[in-house]
Amino acid sequence: MAKLWSGRFSKSTDKKVDDFNSSIRFDKRMYKQDIEGSKAHAKMLGRQGIIPAEDAEKIVTELDNIASDIENGKIEFLVDAEDIHMNIEKILTDRIGDAGKRLHTGRSRNDQVALDIRMYLMDEIDQIRGMLIRALKTLTALSKEHVETIMPGYTHLQKAQPVTFAHHLMAYFEMLKRDLSRLDDCKKRMNVMPLGSGALAGTTYPLDREFVARELGFASVTLNSLDGVSDRDFVIELASCLSILMMHLSRFSEELILWSSHEFSFVEMDDAFSTGSSIMPQKKNPDVAELIRGKTGRVYGHLMGLLTTMKGLPLAYNKDMQEDKEPIFDSVDTVKLCLPVLCDMLASMTVKKDNMLRGSKGGFTNATDAADYLVKKGLPFREAHAVIGKMVAYAVLNEKNLDEFTIDEFKTFSDIIEEDIYDAISMAACVNDRRVIGGPAKETVENAIRLAEEYIEQL
Ligand code: ARG
Repeated sequence: MAKLWSGRFSKSTDKKVDDFNSSIRFDKRMYKQDIEGSKAHAKMLGRQGIIPAEDAEKIVTELDNIASDIENGKIEFLVDAEDIHMNIEKILTDRIGDAGKRLHTGRSRNDQVALDIRMYLMDEIDQIRGMLIRALKTLTALSKEHVETIMPGYTHLQKAQPVTFAHHLMAYFEMLKRDLSRLDDCKKRMNVMPLGSGALAGTTYPLDREFVARELGFASVTLNSLDGVSDRDFVIELASCLSILMMHLSRFSEELILWSSHEFSFVEMDDAFSTGSSIMPQKKNPDVAELIRGKTGRVYGHLMGLLTTMKGLPLAYNKDMQEDKEPIFDSVDTVKLCLPVLCDMLASMTVKKDNMLRGSKGGFTNATDAADYLVKKGLPFREAHAVIGKMVAYAVLNEKNLDEFTIDEFKTFSDIIEEDIYDAISMAACVNDRRVIGGPAKETVENAIRLAEEYIEQL
């Protein structure tokens, strides 16, 4: 097949080079954006009198036909035609002749691909956004059921202070909320229309770039033609947003895996979200959470790959930049796989409240509250800390919890301790006295959930 650019060549491309060069295998997924971009460009060319108005109409009509033919599986893309841009242009030209050949006036594949990838990724951001909103709703719904479910909170993976399961879940709400705002922010910088940058230096045709931007729903146009074709910041930025998002899903997955272990036994995944072992009949494995944790690695890898691809490129377009697509597509696909499965897994898992409460009791998680009790009775905090430290040492030796001390035992450590210490260091008090904004008390978390629901409402 003769290449669209074959004029100055005396030989056809080596078959190996055709395969090597071609990106159709992966950039065909941008066909919709390519067609929409071409339609807007053709309309503008017609309006500006750069090509005959009837040619512009023919182009637009035929591009619509091509779009539906692609959707109905009637089109086979050709490796020889290199990429989605030239495949579609070739089909168009085969069908409508000279009018088709006029489409590429005042345009280069360099600004065309910059346009397509922006449009494609903005659509993907919208889809991921929808999935994130669903995850936020799943978290608030589950939290509402667990504002009184006491569980141990950890630092250094050592029991620290009791919290509630709702409080723990709402921590992930905050993370995903930031992920959503990061994506919105990323989309703002993506929402700039590069067509008209040409190959690198703009064009001599009187293009109406603002018209094209309006047609395609872009907020503005790029302001430097060299940057317009060579900027891939938005790809890297999205890869970074998705890496951070996956980091959150991975941390959550890690906790779900730990909590599913026999040792913790805080949750049990539904059978539909677990798998067995081919040899050990007793096994029920949290594969889904493990895979989410595992897939995080490839998303991080893509971010590093993209940064590295771009790091040494002189302005403006270089073919290296064709390598931006597979990694960012894979990052997007991976996030879109993980988010829904995580939501369904969370919604279907069993929460073992009794084990959580039992877990919160061992390990002196109320020691800080015991110290605070002494402070409220007038002791300076540092002294209180030392008194309770001694109590803990004694408790370890005698294998008991602080709330199992007799009042006489308490008094040997400090004579200001009274009967009211038992209430003050109960798990419920430890949680519910922490009413500070952002704290785990029932009413505070209920308030946080209310704010969360208002936030979701206005999205
Ligand atoms: N397939 C190319 C890419 O993805 C399109 C732009 C190619 N431009 C060029 N002059 N070779 O980057």
